[in-house]
Parts: sequence; structure tokens; C-alpha cells
Amino acid sequence: MKFFKFFLLFIMFSIMTNAQTIKSPNGNLELTFALNSAGAPNYHLTYKNKDVIKESALGFVLKESGEMTSHFEIDKSETKTFDESWQPVWGEQKYIRNNYNELAVSLVLKEHGNRTLIIRFRLFDDGLGFRYEFPNQPTLSYFILSDEVTEFSLAGNHKTFWIPGDYDTNEYLYTTSKLSEVDASISKEMVEVSTRHFVSPNLVQTPLMMKTDDGLYINIHEAALVDYPAMNLMINKESFKLTSHLVPDAVGNKAYLQTPCTSPWRTVIVSDKATEILASKLILNLNEPTKYEDVSWIKPMKFIGIWWEMHTGTHSWNYGDHPNIKLDGFDWSSVTSNGKHGATTERAKEYIDFASKNGIEGLLIEGWNVGWEDWFGAWKEEVFDFVTPYPDFDLKEVSDYAKSKNIQLIMHHETSGSVTNYERRMEDAYELMNKYGYNALKTGYVGRIIPRGEYHDGQWMVNHYVRVAKKTAEYKIMLDAHEPVRPTGLHRTYPNWLASEAARGNEFNAWSIGNKPEHETILPFTRLMGGPMDYTPGIFEVNMSHYFPEKSFQVHTTLAKQLALYVTIYSPIQMAADYPENYDKYRDAFQFIKDVSVDWDETKILEAEPGDYITIARKAKGKEGWFIGAITDENSRNAEISFNFLEKGKKYLASIYMDSDNAHWEKNPVSYKIEKYLVDSHSIAKIKLADGGGAAISVFPASDKELKEYKMIK
Ligand code: NOJ
Ligand code: CA
Repeated sequence: MKFFKFFLLFIMFSIMTNAQTIKSPNGNLELTFALNSAGAPNYHLTYKNKDVIKESALGFVLKESGEMTSHFEIDKSETKTFDESWQPVWGEQKYIRNNYNELAVSLVLKEHGNRTLIIRFRLFDDGLGFRYEFPNQPTLSYFILSDEVTEFSLAGNHKTFWIPGDYDTNEYLYTTSKLSEVDASISKEMVEVSTRHFVSPNLVQTPLMMKTDDGLYINIHEAALVDYPAMNLMINKESFKLTSHLVPDAVGNKAYLQTPCTSPWRTVIVSDKATEILASKLILNLNEPTKYEDVSWIKPMKFIGIWWEMHTGTHSWNYGDHPNIKLDGFDWSSVTSNGKHGATTERAKEYIDFASKNGIEGLLIEGWNVGWEDWFGAWKEEVFDFVTPYPDFDLKEVSDYAKSKNIQLIMHHETSGSVTNYERRMEDAYELMNKYGYNALKTGYVGRIIPRGEYHDGQWMVNHYVRVAKKTAEYKIMLDAHEPVRPTGLHRTYPNWLASEAARGNEFNAWSIGNKPEHETILPFTRLMGGPMDYTPGIFEVNMSHYFPEKSFQVHTTLAKQLALYVTIYSPIQMAADYPENYDKYRDAFQFIKDVSVDWDETKILEAEPGDYITIARKAKGKEGWFIGAITDENSRNAEISFNFLEKGKKYLASIYMDSDNAHWEKNPVSYKIEKYLVDSHSIAKIKLADGGGAAISVFPASDKELKEYKMIK
């Protein structure tokens, strides 16, 4: 017994001697790193003295070259403090403060010839980032990862907003449940998501948003995912310990690395206020500054598209209904048009006219290039060549016309998952884009990946997405990627990569059970933590029965909520996704889309609760206008908007686009009213949002005439 006590004391002493602690700049967060008696590294994170992450393991299993999980010794450790402000090329605010305290611990594994591993922790006021670094060293050069064994041992059975873990898709609906109730096998029922790879009932994806019983908000994700697979999280439902689960490659390995190299940052964003989770810039701060010298060609924009009509089914991507196309040498004159083809020269010109008349900068044209006849599901390699237009689409005529009307064209490259084919052809395709003056590109990765056996979120594909971002930059092309791995803040480093879809977009409302009314109140807390999303808002004609009486699909919001999404779902490239004729039908509501900005000097998260509601105010970049979006889930609520962010002593005109009294996302979605009032920094507006509803407000300095005409909100 005595010996046992002594032994225990000895263990405690040895733990205490190597434990190292740092605090966040404001002191709320505290991180402790230690090696236990077996030389296994672990960390522990508290917020205002409460456990966020209990003692949790760190390390790796290397294929063929052993484990790096224990028997470590500390070689040295260093701390530093960092504080700077930087200016993003575009973003939610003009300046971003990057302020943290850092601890870097160098560990040695003597039994493996002094193999070394550095674990670097950065503690910010809004959370923790840490990563592993494998320095250049004689006994470790090229190696294969079998596993990363990073643990996040949570302090309780938290409420969680999750989607099933998967290697290929992030287009799932969210479920809200306790950690112990997660059952990712629901992925098997979500047949509307085309390419799924179910792994385990206990596996979930990041960004994972959680809320503790005593009101702490915790978000786990990663930053700067480069040359490494994406991380899913395996839940232990008894201990509430989450363990990293990396997406494997075709032969089951996780990553191929060569020293010197680093892992992505593992991030834990923490606050007792939900609004502060949305305001966090931790993930951006952990990414590298851009190395592009000239960024003057990168310009946020709004765009319309020959697009929604394909999703609703009135038009098609394909030109003919020929079921069997072979790309090389195929005779397109033998194919007759099906009469539904969307991307014709004539229709493109009509869209250009609409954009130009309404001050929308860009036009996306999908289905312009040959190959769509059998693009889906065939797992075939040579689907598209990305340079040959269909016979009824004249590249030159369309681009000359766009130029004459000052409209920018966004080219579409659907790879259908055949990435080998795309890599072979992409430079020719970008040259063609330069030739015809297309300065933006939407890519797509629908279907199973080629090289066969690779997954959308594995290391090979992660490298591909980055390769496309860098290559397009060489051609001064801006990028919007659909179906890529979810973002991790790389838009700081590659600012031409404006946005990604990488989650369940509005399109699901056109052809499936769609997105629940709560969906858009969860996305900013999950998917958008890593970067902007091309959600494609702005659908006014919400019922698909409008196009086909037999179709019961619908957008699960009111029209006013579609307007609010331009503010609550951040993207520097924002689509006005509906048909031009639907905008002509609701001209007064369309005014908000015409006015709203896509680049911001300031952002204020006014109210937020994941799964329930979000209200955000943003100030247009370099201008005096403010735009506010307020959304709710399936429950109506009163949004309270205090205008205290406005310049003191100045009066503004607020145009409020809101649900009418009897609006309801399902029963009466297209019922809205527009009211105008004067506001100043003392005004507080209470606005009723319908079930599944929202409100959008534009705020501009009031003219003398408006000062006389409108009433003031006190
Ligand atoms: C899925 C994308 O999300 C959508 O925007 C696109 O229209 C289709 N794929 C076809 O590429
Ligand atoms: Ca998609």
C-alpha cells in the first residue's frame, strides 16, 4: 500500500514536472500539455475554468515505421506571443486581428533513433489551434500514415449538430442530437445524396458544432488542409471522446508524407456566446498569408445563371438525348437537339441583357460544352473535353456580346468526378477561358472519383483542389468549387478561390425532400466556419409545382428569408439563382438583391443560436450602406435589431423586406411586405419572422426628401 502511494506520488510528480501551460491573451482559455508516465503526449483545454477538452491523446501510427504515440521525451519547449492585424483581399471585415500565445514542444523518440516531432499550440481568445510538425531529420524522411490519433475528450454528452461521417460527400441534412444519440447510418437512407460512402454509425464530419448543458459552444474543425486527407471524428458514446479518423486512399493508407512537413491545424473554437463562434477568425488566422503578388484582378461579384432551369427540369444541360457518346471524333451533326437545351447563344444573350439591366456583374452558363448526354453515374473517364461547345452555343458571339454589355462570364467545368481527365485537359481549358475573356470558373465533382478508388476528401483530391486554385490563379481566373472537400480557410492563401459549395445547397430544394427550415441556421455554425459557401440563394418561386404540377418539391423558406440569406450566408460570389422572369415578377423584392453587397468592411453578429436563428449586419466595403439579414427555423420569432452600429447623429433610410403577417414557409411562402423607416444609432426594430421566415434590411443615408417623407423608428 505504502509503495502504491509512493508510486502514485511519483507519477503525479513526473506529470507535473513536464506539464506546460499557456493562457489565451484574455486569460479565459488555458491549455496544458504534458507527457504521461509512458511518455504519451496529451493536452487539456479549459474555458473560464471549465473543461472543454479533458486530457486527450496526441500522436500517429506510421505504416512500417512504428508508432509515435508514447515513449517520447521532451527535448525543448518554446513559448511566444503574437499580435498583428492583416487585411484580407475580400472578406467579412476590413481588418482581422491575429493574436495568440503559442507553445511549441519538441519531442524525441529515442527508441527510433531520436525521431522528432513538434506539437505547436496557438491559443487565441476564441479558441485553440494545434498541429504536428515533422522536421527534417536523419531517421525519418518519406513515410506513410496509417492513422492520426488525435483525441478530443469532451466533458459531457453535448448537444451536437452533425452530418454523417463520409469519405465522398458533405451534402447531408443536419441532425441535432446528444453525442450518445448520433447514428450516422441514416446516411444509408439519404438517397438524394448521389455519391455516399458510409463508414460507421459513430462517425461524423467537421466542422462539428456542439453546445454543453451549461451553455458553452464548442466547434471542432481544421485549418489549412493541404497535402493531407480530411479529418472525420469517431465518437465514443460512453466516454464522449472523439478520435480523428482520416479519409483513406484507394489502398487504405491515410497519407504519404515527406519531412519536413506538417499536419493541418486542429481547431477548437469556444465561447459562451453563440455570436462569438460566428465572429471567430481563428481558422483564417491559422492559414498562411497569400503569396500572390497581384490580387487586383480578384473581384467579388453577384451573378445569375443558366442553371436553376436545369435543376427544376424545364431545360437540360445536354443538347441531345443520345445515350452513348464517345468524346473523340464524335459527330455532333448526327445528333438533333432535344429542344430543351438551356445553354444556347440566344438564351445566353437574353441573360446577359437581364444582368446588364439589373447591375448584376456575372453570368454562369452550364451545359455549354459537349458531353452531358451520359455524364452522370457512368464512372467513365473521358466525359468532357472542356473546350468544345455544343452546336447551338457560339463561344465567340456570346463572349463578344457579354463584353459589349460589361458582363463577366463564369465558365462551368463539371468533371463528373473524372479528375484524371480534367487534369490532362485543364490548361487547354483555361487558355480557352482567357481567349474568350471568362475570368471566373465553377468546377464540379459529381460522382465517383477517377483515379478509381480515390475519395473526394482523401489526400489525392485535397491536392487536386489546391492545384486547381493555384493553376487558375496563373490564368487570373477566380474559382468556385462544387462538391470539393469542405473548406479550411485556404481562401486566405489562395484568394482567387472565392467559394465552395461543399455542403447541401439550395439545389436540393428543387429535386428532393430538400433542406429543412432550420438548415440555414446551422450552416454558418458548421460548413461556413471553414469558408464562404456558394449556397445559391434568391429563389422566389418556391414551389416546383409552378413548373410541373405533379412536382411537390419546394424551397423550405419564405421569399423574405431567401433575401436574408444574402447576408447570413457569407460568400464573395453570390448567385441570384432564380429565373429572370421570376425576378421580373417580384421586382420590388428583387431590389434587395440588386442593392446587397458581397464584400464588407464590418460584420456584426447581432443574434444567433445554432438550429434556431441568426441575425447579422454587415457594412458594404468602401460604401455607406449596411445590410441586415435575420432568419429563423420552422418557428416564428421576433428579431430585435438595434442599429447602434450606425454612425452617431446620422439618419438613414431602412428598407425592410419582411414576411407578411400570415406568411409561412409551407402554407404561404411568397407573402411579403416592404416597409421603409428612418433609423439612427438609437433605433431598435422588432421584426416578426414567420415560421421558416426571415427579413432583409438595406440601410442607406437618408436624402432630404426621405427625411421628410418617412417616420423614424425609435
Ligand atoms: C451539382 C452542382 O452543385 C450544381 O450546381 C451543378 O449545376 C450540377 N452539379 C451539374 O454540374
Ligand atoms: Ca452539389
